[in-house]
Amino acid sequence: MTSQPQRPAFGTLLTSHMAVATYQHERWSESEIKPVAPLEISPAAHALHYASTCFEGFKAFRHSDGSIHVFRMDRHIQRLRQSARQLVLPEPQPAQLADMVRAVIQRCRDAVPEAPGALYLRPILFGTTANIGAAATPSTEATLIVLASPVWDYFAGGMKPLRILVDDVNTRSAAQMGMVKTGGNYAAALGPTLAARAKYQVDQVLFCPGGQVQETGAANFLLVRNGELLTRSLDASFLHGVTRDSLLHIARDMGYAVTERPFDVREMLEWVRTGEAALSGTAAVLAGVGTLIYNGESYPVAGSELTLALRSQLVAVQRGDQPDRHGWLERVV
Ligand SMILES: Cc1ncc(COP(=O)(O)O)c(C=O)c1O
Repeated sequence: MTSQPQRPAFGTLLTSHMAVATYQHERWSESEIKPVAPLEISPAAHALHYASTCFEGFKAFRHSDGSIHVFRMDRHIQRLRQSARQLVLPEPQPAQLADMVRAVIQRCRDAVPEAPGALYLRPILFGTTANIGAAATPSTEATLIVLASPVWDYFAGGMKPLRILVDDVNTRSAAQMGMVKTGGNYAAALGPTLAARAKYQVDQVLFCPGGQVQETGAANFLLVRNGELLTRSLDASFLHGVTRDSLLHIARDMGYAVTERPFDVREMLEWVRTGEAALSGTAAVLAGVGTLIYNGESYPVAGSELTLALRSQLVAVQRGDQPDRHGWLERVV
């Protein structure tokens, strides 16, 4: 038997180069491509004290002819700008940021894995004004960096259906910050997620404050059954996933009736008696949920066939195996 090569865990391997631009005196500098190396940053930098930092995550795919295509970059750039606005950070210029992403992909083209791998792109933006007394003052200086990481599986267990704790007590973020992709939200979700892992051996926590189903620490939540897809309607309390949006389009293309509205834990538990549940995100793509744990009880999810079909359809578009009818891919190399 031949053994599979050991692949680095998601996000642990970076490409050799990154793109960097800085904001000072009310303007962005020219961006530069540099070797990935430790940064020099003031210990008084705004982001280190007051969490003025946000980021994005999206992928570029190598197609079978060797060309490289980035997926829905415009939506991710818009979302980073929205996060920056909410955190009162200087907004990156869309054209400059897109050029930085393209430059990293071009420079690191040899590091883009073949399918089923991809190149994960991670722009980060953070406030660098050196002032430890600036709790109520925005950072007037900032750094924007585009990192890239060759990735394979996000969940260590591969395609195994996930075990999810339904938590109707904790919140993942402050109500108005859910739609902002900022480090503080992930820090807030970490404690409850680790506690749930230790107590219930779950993969993730589904946050359902006040009994209303919201999202997990790093993915959106969808319910699927024959011809129907249900997910929470967009509001400020959770991240507006680009994968979620793409899957809603794909589901409609496949003839599904797509409903976006709030729903509660009771309705979800009823749904999974006969239907499916799944997590969506750039990293996870669409991962089936196998079991929900609520109030100490296990609720098995009926199946994952429809989830797998939706996932395959999205992956086929990303990899160039199906026509890109919504114009989501941009060829970079
Ligand atoms: C909290 C959270 N929700 C949802 C998502 C899914 O968003 P997207 O599909 O744009 O990756 C992510 C991942 O980026 C996330 O971190």
